[in-house]
Amino acid sequence: MIFAPSFVAFLTLAISVQGARIPRNLRRQADAQSSLTLDPAVIQQSLAQNGLGLNDTDAGQTASLTSSNNFINFCLLFTNADGSQGELTDGKQKQGGSCNPTPMGTIPAKSIMPASKFQVPTNLQNYGVNQTFTITMSIINMQTGAFTNPNENYFAAPQQLNTAGQIIGHSHVVVQAVKSITDTTVADPTVFAFFKGMNAVAEDGVLTADVTNGLDAGTYRLCSINTAANHQPALVPVAQHGSLDDCVYFTVGDAAAQQVQAAMTSIGGVAAPAAAAPAAAASATADNATAAAPAPAAADNAAAAAPAPAADNATAAALPASPDASKPFLPSNGQDAQQLNAKFTTLTADSPCNAGDQACVGGGFAQCVSGKFVTTQCAGGTVCAALPLVNKAGTSITCTTSADAIARIAATGVTGGLTGSG
Ligand SMILES: *[C@@H]1O[C@H](CO)[C@@H](O)[C@H](O)[C@H]1NC(C)=O
Ligand SMILES: *[C@@H]1O[C@H](CO)[C@@H](O)[C@H](O)[C@H]1NC(C)=O
Ligand SMILES: *[C@@H]1O[C@H](CO)[C@@H](O)[C@H](O)[C@H]1NC(C)=O
Ligand SMILES: *[C@@H]1O[C@H](CO)[C@@H](O)[C@H](O)[C@H]1NC(C)=O
Repeated sequence: MIFAPSFVAFLTLAISVQGARIPRNLRRQADAQSSLTLDPAVIQQSLAQNGLGLNDTDAGQTASLTSSNNFINFCLLFTNADGSQGELTDGKQKQGGSCNPTPMGTIPAKSIMPASKFQVPTNLQNYGVNQTFTITMSIINMQTGAFTNPNENYFAAPQQLNTAGQIIGHSHVVVQAVKSITDTTVADPTVFAFFKGMNAVAEDGVLTADVTNGLDAGTYRLCSINTAANHQPALVPVAQHGSLDDCVYFTVGDAAAQQVQAAMTSIGGVAAPAAAAPAAAASATADNATAAAPAPAAADNAAAAAPAPAADNATAAALPASPDASKPFLPSNGQDAQQLNAKFTTLTADSPCNAGDQACVGGGFAQCVSGKFVTTQCAGGTVCAALPLVNKAGTSITCTTSADAIARIAATGVTGGLTGSG
């Protein structure tokens, strides 16, 4: 039997007037998931009020569109300029826009809202031009690995929850170029340098995406797009919540990393101090950021970076003059650090080593134990690097930001970035 909407409304009214509500399961249509009429049990009567004139209405609030039939025919209102019916969202990604008749679906509890955080890259991490890297992202409160056909089922089914109350879905990463770390231009959403669906089930809560062959030199914003299985953005039950997605900014190429360092100095902040993780390896005094800050690699210090006048001695000619005459060891410290960093790029956990050796392996701080490197990952935002000592000849190996490592090496007067090859 087909109920006309007016009869449904009447029936609902009659039920509520009588006050004797029929149990939900009895009111359900036997063919409810194929019937072309609304089941009274799911008519949302509060949609009939527009939100104004109530005791919780704020001044300036906009009247909501209202409906007494769950907006089932809403898309009839979506017409083309000539008055013909507008396109319905039919599972295709309609580039000209469309009207979606599909309900939003099930909404998780506030305590089960999804959220994500990039593990790699961290903010201000620096990669080589065209260097392959793998994005890793922790995600919570979502059943990952569910993604429907994006060409046929886009926005074409409601958001669904699993029995644990988590949104069933998947994630994506998108990388967009920005002009600089301080760029305030709104990024054009139609333009991106890298995009990938992370469709696999998260392993230990972590999703990954390989950026094969890396990126061009530049500064980038990486963001997640956490979605339900049918690709719609995750929907949560409260308006006030932390971001369900994450974004980080990173650089590719030494020039971009140096621009970040210069920007941090020029905007009046303190340049990034070396991070103290692992603590034993840290060379900087964490509680004195000024002392820890490297000399700015800014233009007004360009003279210091200029090579020394040519000498008739090949060894001397390979090194520029020290930017500080009282510390003649600075350029050779910088070069030694570069050579170590270059060597570290060739090391793996299986590289042979001698007990007590320290090195950077895979971006982490490594110590040689029984002929094998044991690596401690650096804390968020930092990578392992060899750095020039400032007050005597030598180098230290520590966790710091890429930008800090590059700036400290540049401050010794040598060029070529972290490894001398930049
Ligand atoms: C508005 O009034 C209703 C009914 O009297 C009451 O339950 C509710 O708490 C009130 N809300 C606010 C924000 O005052
Ligand atoms: C990076 O890759 C692009 C495209 O293959 C190439 O044109 C460019 O020369 C490469 N740059 C470097 C520094 O390897
Ligand atoms: C930090 O180090 C700088 C440079 O050595 C020094 O001038 C300053 O007094 C130190 N500040 C503190 C709080 O120790
Ligand atoms: C070249 O210069 C270096 C650094 O000053 C010095 O140690 C070395 O003895 C010099 N070699 C020659 C052949 O003069």
